[in-house]
Amino acid sequence: MKIEILQTAAQVNAKAAWHFIRRAAFDGVLTGVATGDTTRAVYALVAALYETAPFDTSKIRICALDDYAGIEGDHPASCSARIRAQLQVPLHLRSEQLILPEAFPGTPDAVAQAYEERLTSLGGIQTQLLGIGADAHLGFCRPGTPFCSPAHAVQLPEDTRQMLHRKYTLEIKKLPRCGVTLGLKSIMQIPELLVIATGTAKARAVYDSLHHAPDERIPASILQLHPNVTWLLDAEAASLL
Ligand code: F6R
Repeated sequence: MKIEILQTAAQVNAKAAWHFIRRAAFDGVLTGVATGDTTRAVYALVAALYETAPFDTSKIRICALDDYAGIEGDHPASCSARIRAQLQVPLHLRSEQLILPEAFPGTPDAVAQAYEERLTSLGGIQTQLLGIGADAHLGFCRPGTPFCSPAHAVQLPEDTRQMLHRKYTLEIKKLPRCGVTLGLKSIMQIPELLVIATGTAKARAVYDSLHHAPDERIPASILQLHPNVTWLLDAEAASLL
């Protein structure tokens, strides 16, 4: 496990953006992307770098870590729509360069399973960008998620639904109740992980994930057992280490 502490969030974003460009664009490996405020800043920088000095994006293949079930894929709150807006549009990616959980009339668990099978058939994710929640969640794997979980469906916690309500002015009755996510086992099978955390709100989760013995109450603590994970932190996120 590598822990890199940089002074500012801007430095963290720059390092993560270059990791994305190197692995996804230059090496052309299947790259998993989290969505959220942390990674949004990274993708904005990737887009800005592309705008300034366009690089070859033809080999990029990216896939979602998670998504909501029960909102249209083109709704701006959906992770798929955010990946389209933050990466596909600015980098001019073709739709076949995006691999996303497909809504079909099956149960969310069937969608999650089909998505994992699809990723496996493509050779599996080779590198994954991860954000971390203040409760140390990864994807939609909240505290208590079994370490051995494959891709699966989750009931969305109330705070996530309220966040969607506030941020995207979604009517309460139209809020999704379910999500699909790669599981902790799925994440552990990816050969290279980059966890990005910035700001004091992440300091406790970072500390617990790195210093508490692996424990299902702290989902990201499983990463201590991963052979090739880099934690990229700014001084605030690292402030309790
Ligand atoms: C979303 C995801 C989430 C976020 C986490 C941190 O695809 O994977 O686990 O990474 O909730 O979100 P932000 O960056 O908004 O604090």
